[in-house]
Amino acid sequence: MRSIFITGIAGFIGFHLARALKTRGDRVCGCDNFNDYYDPALKRERAHLLSSEGIPVYEEEITDKEFLVHTLDQTKATHLVHLAAQAGVRYSLSHPESYVHSNLSGFVQVLEALRLFPHIKFIYASSSSVYGLNTKVPFTETDPVDHPASFYGATKRSNELIAHSYHHTYGLHCTALRYFTVYGPWGRPDMAYFSFTKAILDGTPLTVFGEGKLKRDFTYIDDIVQGTIAAMDLGAPLEIFNLGNHFPVSVMELIACLEMHLKKKAQIHFAPKPQGDVAITYAEISKAKRVLGFTPHTSLQEGLKYFVAWYMKALVNNR
Ligand SMILES: NC(=O)c1ccc[n+]([C@@H]2O[C@H](COP(=O)([O-])OP(=O)(O)OC[C@H]3O[C@@H](n4cnc5c(N)ncnc54)[C@H](O)[C@@H]3O)[C@@H](O)[C@H]2O)c1
Repeated sequence: MRSIFITGIAGFIGFHLARALKTRGDRVCGCDNFNDYYDPALKRERAHLLSSEGIPVYEEEITDKEFLVHTLDQTKATHLVHLAAQAGVRYSLSHPESYVHSNLSGFVQVLEALRLFPHIKFIYASSSSVYGLNTKVPFTETDPVDHPASFYGATKRSNELIAHSYHHTYGLHCTALRYFTVYGPWGRPDMAYFSFTKAILDGTPLTVFGEGKLKRDFTYIDDIVQGTIAAMDLGAPLEIFNLGNHFPVSVMELIACLEMHLKKKAQIHFAPKPQGDVAITYAEISKAKRVLGFTPHTSLQEGLKYFVAWYMKALVNNR
């Protein structure tokens, strides 16, 4: 039987992945430090639901190697999916130390724990941000990724290099998943689709950067979970995969779609593109398609319908 340990399990992607794995019959548990980068009440609510479904959630730090070693041993883990990280491009301008703590020190502690269990397959979240200042689209796994546009992107690229060294030195099986702008129910309040929804409903102006021309390859959470599980099952010695929708959409199109679902017009305030934001993200996914059978099925219009339905229900339930 597969036994999966997920770091960042009370986060957006961890929550959905844990439920999908449990549903297919895997043993699942995980840890989260419930930090306040965004409202921890949402993380608590996700964790509460997971616990009620028989998925243990430990309130622990990934920098606590003793805890990791103990838990991997006790649960006879076969896979470790590492999602805990300080996310967000803009926040890395003002809070670099948080990225050093979780994305660099924390990442190394996880690998140090895994050195004692070299049979455990290690699957970890990288990001489209590693493509940084690249202008060639779509972004391909073999493209050079030496010019990060943000400190966040630099930490994610560092993870890939560090994982390479642990594979080479200690034989760990490491798979990086470069996620592209993941969205959906139970999502992250710091992301544009979420904060725009709130602003449109509240009737407050939303801030749009770069004249709304920035494009993102929005990828629905269920598609991301499907790709992540396929990468876990493959358990390759050393791989990197793009997981994106292969269909970039501009921020103005995102807003138009939200207006349609919410049946309300947005008030827009334009602002210059912040440092660190890139003009476009666009995933080449033929490798993931060929090796993992990854085929994103959900259009932005459909995915936002599911998000808005969840959001309205959460409002009624008084979040
Ligand atoms: N959502 C996206 O669009 C996206 C895109 C690219 C990459 N990623 C990456 O995917 C992963 C999951 O992202 P998400 O959207 O679910 O973010 P999230 O912030 O919702 O989830 C991350 C979770 O990790 C926890 N965490 C952070 N630091 C920790 C630490 N030191 N110890 C223990 N727990 C800690 C947080 O409390 C949070 O619950 C992250 O690594 C993120 O960088 C996400």
